[in-house]
Amino acid sequence: MNNPKDNSLDNINPFDPEVLACPYDFNRALRELSSVYLCPHTGVYFVSNYDLVVTVAKDEKRFSNQFSMIQSGVQAAPDPEMAAILAKGWPRVDTMLTADPPKQRRYRSLCQKPFSVSSVAKLQPYISEVANDLIDQIIDAGKCNWMEAFAVPMPVRMIAYILGVPISDMDLFKQWSDANVASFSVGQTREEALRNAELVIEFQHYFADKIEARKIKPTDDVLSDIVNSSADGEKPMDMAECLSVISQLLVAGNETTTSTFAEGMYLLARNPDQLRLVQQQPELIPNMVEEMLRLSTPTTQMWRICLEDTHLAGVDIPKGATMMIKFGSANRDSDQFQQPDDFDVTRENLKSQIAFGQGVHHCLGAPLARQELILGFQNILRRITNIRLPQGEPELAFHPSLLLHGPIDLNIEFDKCE
Ligand code: HEM
Repeated sequence: MNNPKDNSLDNINPFDPEVLACPYDFNRALRELSSVYLCPHTGVYFVSNYDLVVTVAKDEKRFSNQFSMIQSGVQAAPDPEMAAILAKGWPRVDTMLTADPPKQRRYRSLCQKPFSVSSVAKLQPYISEVANDLIDQIIDAGKCNWMEAFAVPMPVRMIAYILGVPISDMDLFKQWSDANVASFSVGQTREEALRNAELVIEFQHYFADKIEARKIKPTDDVLSDIVNSSADGEKPMDMAECLSVISQLLVAGNETTTSTFAEGMYLLARNPDQLRLVQQQPELIPNMVEEMLRLSTPTTQMWRICLEDTHLAGVDIPKGATMMIKFGSANRDSDQFQQPDDFDVTRENLKSQIAFGQGVHHCLGAPLARQELILGFQNILRRITNIRLPQGEPELAFHPSLLLHGPIDLNIEFDKCE
């Protein structure tokens, strides 16, 4: 619904860190008052209800993903010191997430194989092994910092394993992942931005050595597959392309899965009846994971650029306009999901949740993320119970990120299963 006379939304800046960290009220107001909303503070068109988000996400001909210039533009003016740091590395290339077909399709096909359902199925024993290894380290204590103990290391160890990074380099790898993700946050100081840029260059040189080695002598691993595969007889990707693909895998894959592990655990601690139900009926765990994905929607919103003059839900959007499609809002639209803010592990229509997006950009890593979450929670719920928040634990607080929504910290207490 669009109500052009109601301008109560105009008092809110959607990029205010407080709104980004806690977007639920704003999203609800958007859906009720103006499902396509031109924000006077930012000049961005926000699309918030379920049907319209799906429409835009599926129409890559009218709505482009080539948004990397906007993404850097909202963050910083050109800075010579930053330019000097970046000159030590390779230029960023628009590959999957930040490209349109046919370019996007080409890059995607080059790295699709290791992320397919059948390839990911082969990782199941390793996923369970990592999950149990992490649980072993906390189970006797009866309490832990859940982010440090599980939510962060689980996805990092999986993507590191897939990319052939040894466990001894895990801390470095996590720092590089955070530095790559930082480009999506607001409120970084200049010093932080420069430090993160240094880390990104460090990451590039680390992987450049590995890529070089695998181009000369391929080994039996995913990195070799990615750097040596070619589409339609074309040359394999060059160094800048390979590095951009790897950095997208890091950004898209790490923080998001961490966020669902963290918010999912919080939801279980806050809803003991649902926890009891999934422990009594573990066959509900895959459905529970979809419900956790729906409520957490870690890729909360994504840029689009309008490629032609468009009329959407009564609003004219001119060619060249910048848009933001709100997956997180769509997943809490009451026209699609009844009692949308409730955590209900038996909810029936979860096939329509869109935490992994829709259309040509639908998440490449969805099979991997789903396997990690399902096997992760299967092992967790088999081994610990009575999961609760420590007394005095504050409400969950979230990072004020432009595109990614995820908890900052979470402590839990629990009992060992008999
Ligand atoms: C809970 C975990 C995850 C969530 C919620 C998530 C969400 C998303 C969403 C919503 C998109 C589409 C963005 C758009 O339409 O513009 C996307 C794309 C993508 N995701 Fe994920 N993701 C997750 C995990 C992963 C993992 C584990 C990987 C890989 C290791 C990954 C790699 C990618 C890539 C490469 C794209 C771009 C695909 C393309 O444009 O063709 N994601 N993801």
